[in-house]
Amino acid sequence: MSTQETTETATATGRVAQHRRYLMCRPEHFTVSYTINPWMEPAKPTDTAKAVAQWQDLYDAYVALGHEVELIEPIIGLPDMVYTANGGFLIDGVAYGAKFRFRERGPEGPAFMDWFRDRGYDVRQPVEVNEGEGDFLLVGDTILAGTGFRSTGDSHREIGEVFGREVVSLTLTDPRFYHLDTAIAVLDPVQGEGGVEAANIAYLPSAFDERSRQILTERYPDAILVSDEDGSVFGLNSSSDGYNVIISPRAKGFEAQLRERGYNPIMVDLSELLLGGGGIKCCTLELRDARS
Ligand code: ARG
Repeated sequence: MSTQETTETATATGRVAQHRRYLMCRPEHFTVSYTINPWMEPAKPTDTAKAVAQWQDLYDAYVALGHEVELIEPIIGLPDMVYTANGGFLIDGVAYGAKFRFRERGPEGPAFMDWFRDRGYDVRQPVEVNEGEGDFLLVGDTILAGTGFRSTGDSHREIGEVFGREVVSLTLTDPRFYHLDTAIAVLDPVQGEGGVEAANIAYLPSAFDERSRQILTERYPDAILVSDEDGSVFGLNSSSDGYNVIISPRAKGFEAQLRERGYNPIMVDLSELLLGGGGIKCCTLELRDARS
């Protein structure tokens, strides 16, 4: 495992682009053959070549921004493996493994843990059902944790024990937004020296219950509130390095909001992968290596 370099590029707007390491999986076996979220309709045809081409655009965008992208070998019979965000959650070289809610994705958990182990990460086997970075987001020093559809409340306790960090539980209520990363985008650097004071997020208020909305309002008074229109094209399922934010080209309002705040939105269309209920963030797992 290589040690993380934090090459930072400051921009004219004061936003800082941080170097990132990501794990992706080429969707060579992508299709929709079962339904585990409302987006998936097996009767609708899918185009695997198109999925691969769109995925390649995302890969190329990361490389063009100077990020490192690692690849995990796709496995036949696991069409959702392209959504690597669900494969685990990593901080400082420790990888908390995933334990999938649905049988169809079950074998992905061990496959990702093997990959982490082979690269020298300290793997923590999960007891509780959790779907990795799909439901856990690191914002500053805090882990925002989603529940309601996939990861359980018990996994929120477990992840807190693994990383010894504050975990804030949030409840999702709209089945279209079944993972936290479909309803919240982390915009700012997440691992600055001594913590990040100004870590901000964007979110879709209507995806949460009242209590969670209140928590989000209190903790992130400057958050970007995204419209239902942008949320429903998976606008929030995006990936930021602190300055460049890769988003869906259909999230027009969010694009404008990001520009107003001094971010640089970059549009990548993953329409084919949306047939499986996933977007940009779903295809991206952040590898936070041990710090030197
Ligand atoms: N078909 C996959 C599932 O339902 C999509 C996963 C999307 N991933 C995400 N991080 N939101 O599990």
